[in-house]
Amino acid sequence: MKMPKTIKKLTAEDVESIIEIARDSWKWTYKDIYNKEFIENWISEKYSREKLLNDIIRSQKDDGIIFLGSFVKSIPIGFIELKIGDYRAELLRLYLKPEYTHRGIGELLLLEAEKIMKKKGIVECILYVHKKNSIGISFYKKNGFEVKHIDGDDLVMEKEYKY
Ligand SMILES: CC(C)(COP(=O)(O)OP(=O)(O)OC[C@H]1O[C@@H](n2cnc3c(N)ncnc32)[C@H](O)[C@@H]1OP(=O)(O)O)[C@@H](O)C(=O)NCCC(=O)NCCS
Repeated sequence: MKMPKTIKKLTAEDVESIIEIARDSWKWTYKDIYNKEFIENWISEKYSREKLLNDIIRSQKDDGIIFLGSFVKSIPIGFIELKIGDYRAELLRLYLKPEYTHRGIGELLLLEAEKIMKKKGIVECILYVHKKNSIGISFYKKNGFEVKHIDGDDLVMEKEYKY
């Protein structure tokens, strides 16, 4: 189904939606990997309102963080977050509501982040993805990331940009 999608920087108003998207996506993505208690603890710790607000403000001030949301009818349904260094970036998070996956929205979020990275002269982006997250791995490979090495339960993937 075609639907209008908007991608823009997240604001303080979006905090509760980000938490809801993260919780739904984690339960779906990691259902065979982590138990419910682990997921709940992870969400309350890593997606605390305080931490999210801090990252949103940094992204708005262009202070080393890119934090974008994808909106359908003004409602956030996914987000991407990256940490930006001098020449290198790390993709920290990319999550969509499960019912919005496989419709090209992840690619749109990544492309928008890549436009911003290009302006900043980023030449390399890395990310960590769980070795059992086959959808994530497949998505990243299709979007130009290569597996560089294994770090514990994660694959470390990298994409180089030549402008
Ligand atoms: C990973 C994710 C952000 C990709 O965004 P997306 O909008 O779903 O992906 P796109 O539609 O842009 O790209 C499609 C490709 O992604 C992968 N993919 C996305 N959803 C999938 C699904 N439900 N089943 C299987 N593969 C899927 C496939 O490689 C697919 O290629 P194909 O159409 O040739 O099979 C999204 O699926 C998601 O939120 N997944 C759960 C969270 C997650 O794993 N995030 C990464 C953590 S590091």
